[in-house]
Amino acid sequence: MASRADVANDIANRRGFFWPSFEIYGGVGGFYDYGPLGVLLKDNIVDKWRRTFVLPYQDLIVEIESPIIMPRVVFEASGHLEHFTDFIIECTSCGRRYRADQLIEEEMSRRGLKVRVEGLGEDEMMRLIREHGIRCPACGGGLDNIRRFNLLFQTFIGPYSDNIGYLRPETAQGMFVAFKRVAGLMGRRPPFGVAQIGKVARNEISPRQGLIRLREFSQMEIEMFIDPQQPRCPLIGEAESYEVNIVSEDMAARGMEEPVTVTVREAVERGIVVNEWMGFFLALSQKFMEELGVPRDSQKFMAKLPHERAHYSTQTFDHLVYTERFGWIEVSGHAYRGDYDLRRHGVYSGEELILDRRLEQPRIVEERRLYPNPGKIREVYGDRVGEVIRRIDENRDALLEGLTSADMVKLGDITVTRDMVIVRSEKRKVEVEHYVPHVVEPSFGIDRIVYVALEYAVRMESGRNFLAFPPEIAPLKVAVLPIVRRDVYIGIARDIFRSLSMAGIRAAYDDDGSIGHRYLKFDEVGTPLAITVDERTPRDGTVTVRDRDTRIQIRIPVDKAVDIVRAVISGRNIVELARAAGYEVVAQR
Ligand code: ATP
Ligand code: GLY
Repeated sequence: MASRADVANDIANRRGFFWPSFEIYGGVGGFYDYGPLGVLLKDNIVDKWRRTFVLPYQDLIVEIESPIIMPRVVFEASGHLEHFTDFIIECTSCGRRYRADQLIEEEMSRRGLKVRVEGLGEDEMMRLIREHGIRCPACGGGLDNIRRFNLLFQTFIGPYSDNIGYLRPETAQGMFVAFKRVAGLMGRRPPFGVAQIGKVARNEISPRQGLIRLREFSQMEIEMFIDPQQPRCPLIGEAESYEVNIVSEDMAARGMEEPVTVTVREAVERGIVVNEWMGFFLALSQKFMEELGVPRDSQKFMAKLPHERAHYSTQTFDHLVYTERFGWIEVSGHAYRGDYDLRRHGVYSGEELILDRRLEQPRIVEERRLYPNPGKIREVYGDRVGEVIRRIDENRDALLEGLTSADMVKLGDITVTRDMVIVRSEKRKVEVEHYVPHVVEPSFGIDRIVYVALEYAVRMESGRNFLAFPPEIAPLKVAVLPIVRRDVYIGIARDIFRSLSMAGIRAAYDDDGSIGHRYLKFDEVGTPLAITVDERTPRDGTVTVRDRDTRIQIRIPVDKAVDIVRAVISGRNIVELARAAGYEVVAQR
């Protein structure tokens, strides 16, 4: 019998949800096109993400859009030029290149051995390859020449070969670079978050798993900027009683992969997660995936060990979802990035990427301050006294430092001696201090979620396989079908289709083939409802509405079509709706 994954793949392929790009030229690994239904599904998932992560918190989280191509300096600052690498290894016979950690894990798992290779150094990987006699999977040749390979795609900006740019590997950097602007717009009062949805590119070494590992894919990310001294999350009340399946860093260090189930409150109190924000986003992410059709038991959060984490992270959880086809896959990554990114961009740009904190207890600080002594300056420089005072004023810090160890400091053609300035120790009340905010980041890959939603939607019944998408993400919400192709039915069906389209509802019209065949055709691609114009419609102005999952039909007045479809999209059930409105519930068909 076909598996759920086989059915998902078959429907996606036949009905054109997505396909390998550049097919007519033989294809290029890691690139996929989305077809009409795939685009709708993807857009609906993005919309759902916005309605889960941004809209309810719109006073705290705003969305921006920044370029995909970025100048080199951004990735010098972000550390990607140095650290965004995987190990590549080469076959000495056929020359094929593999991502070393993946190759070792796959070969070991084929032999029934489980190892975590991510983050190991080249010597340790070569040792595993030698000890276990791992060879080229394609030709059996030896493997050698292990080295780091940077995953950034490089390009040139404009007609200058020295003006190097890179395609962003995460949307995050655009948000860090825009921090100053957004902080201003948000009143510089943390916590506040910036969200971004968009394309990213990574030159993956050997992408093979369809939408799971692409070279160009889309992300939905939030950078939540917080004051590290006040890391409390004002939204935690919504999430604290939520249960999550989690493998803590301690458990991961002991090689455990089975999660424990804890409430978010417990995870915070036991220090499993670094702060409330991390706990909040884990809960929200689990809920998001549950609402896309993935039960809680098929999800877990796995802590990454220090050597497995990205260079910017001090705590990371991979949000994993179990799939029939690929086993556990990561759909989102949750990183505590600390002040790494803003601090580095601050240094590289020379801008102050900081916020102010009002001190609870103002501090008294004692400072040495330097002032010009006009009388002495006039004795030496006469009428140039104004100019000298201005030069001293501009160079206070340098003079303070210089005159501590020397009797005079030269400022161009002006020589400032100790007696030309007055240095005083002064007390100052400090009520505000500067700090670099810390960042909590949930990062989702859209394409992986598209695949997961598809696999979890598959239902196999005798006589039909179909996709039971939750209505809000179903690509098409409703099919409008005249029972047979006769003008009297076609005219009414076309009018209904038009009113649905005008109401902004994704719908299809179809009059080709038997009605049973058409029902199956729209069930297959996950259309929750079918409206049929039948023999009664011209007589009494009613149509049937059929539910995809139960095949139950109700009979409603034609002019209620838009309302019923809207109600089902927002989660209502058609039998409940019929009972409430006194509509007839018809038999299954
Ligand atoms: P993996 O370990 O699977 O390579 P990653 O740890 O590199 O993933 P992140 O850097 O955390 O992934 O990226 C954030 C999210 O982007 C991931 O959770 C995933 O959903 C998505 N993602 C990452 N790489 C790819 C890819 N090559 N193709 C599709 N989606 C990806
Ligand atoms: N922004 C996190 C990542 O893409 O890795």
